[in-house]
Amino acid sequence: MTATKGLEGIVAATSSISSIIDGVLTYRGYNIDDLASFATFEEVIYLLWYGKLPNENELAGLKAQIGEHVELPSSIIDTLKLFPKDANTMAVLRTAVSALALYDDAANDMSHEANLLKAIKLQAKTPTIIAAYSRIREGLEPIAPVAGQSIAYNFLYMLKGKEPQASAVDAMDKALVLHADHELNASTFSSRVTVATLSDIYSGVTSAIGTLKGPLHGGANEAVMVMLEEIGSYDQVDDYIQEKLNNKEKIMGFGHRVYKNGDPRAKHLMKMSEELGKAKGNLELYNMSVRIEELVTGQKGLQPNVDFYSASTYTMLEIPRDLFTPIFAISRMSGWTAHILEQYENNRIIRPRAEYVGPAGQIFTSIQER
Ligand code: ACO
Repeated sequence: MTATKGLEGIVAATSSISSIIDGVLTYRGYNIDDLASFATFEEVIYLLWYGKLPNENELAGLKAQIGEHVELPSSIIDTLKLFPKDANTMAVLRTAVSALALYDDAANDMSHEANLLKAIKLQAKTPTIIAAYSRIREGLEPIAPVAGQSIAYNFLYMLKGKEPQASAVDAMDKALVLHADHELNASTFSSRVTVATLSDIYSGVTSAIGTLKGPLHGGANEAVMVMLEEIGSYDQVDDYIQEKLNNKEKIMGFGHRVYKNGDPRAKHLMKMSEELGKAKGNLELYNMSVRIEELVTGQKGLQPNVDFYSASTYTMLEIPRDLFTPIFAISRMSGWTAHILEQYENNRIIRPRAEYVGPAGQIFTSIQER
């Protein structure tokens, strides 16, 4: 038994939800470039859950169901008010999503219909939790969403308390499409491991949020913004990055386990970052990011991943840095729940082996003799 570090190259499941083949990402066989250009996030959610793009009636039905479940139980709002105002936002989300199970009578109902309804509830409530906590920590009351509006619109509306610009809604929607699913990424894998014990869907997504939080996964988008803030201005980029590269430190937002020739999602976010910067008349963050890419790709051959240009994109949307990874979770909730439903449909407990490298043949001695 020989271990493969980080399970690199190990095929651990079959799935018909998304694929990465020769650097091309598809959801249910649709190229991510087409979905990013032409589909809304709600269409993508439907695609991931039901395996086909919705017609108009089906899409309206899904939107109505999401609208029906978007509000939080008052106990969850009360709980959010008890949290420290400076809490880690991914810890807040992980805790609140886990707590939702306590207010769902069907939390442990394992029928497909019950699990699908729970997926709808989780997808609907995740943006509400993030927006509500963001307002509560600023001493403001949470805002109810606008009926009939999209997830992207309502998230921005509930966050800021005013009608978002159409360009901001479009950019948010596209970002949600781009992050929705990604084959057997770390957080999706942990959600599948959790529910493969026949634990409930709330436990599965709670595991996933905890896994997404780390800076080697979803937490990288916030880490990129920390780096941009540390650099401060365009003229400081070269010195800062060169020193990091010389010290063999990691540059956040670069590299990927699967993509070695570039992440197909990054170009869309790069374009959004540029367009939003132009519209604001402030291309500093975009220009800094482009220069970082020139240096890192030029010297290390590493390409930017999905997280790199999301940092400047979300900043141009005036979103606080510590909500970047929670936004990733809003989007990936669709993929996690699709994978959890798929896991339940053809389940076998996930239980790999470890290569033992510890001592052997130890002689037990009583506690007095140690
Ligand atoms: N900056 C500098 N060097 C890097 C970076 C980076 N961002 N990423 C990889 N490398 C180097 C490694 O140090 C390693 O060098 P070595 O061979 O001299 O030891 C080499 O490139 C190969 O990298 P691995 O560590 O083997 O890559 P792995 O597949 O294990 O990790 C990961 C992939 C975690 C994404 C890594 O590239 C990384 O830490 N990137 C920065 C964090 C990040 O952006 N994460 C988001 C990923 S996308 C997502 O999850 C949404």
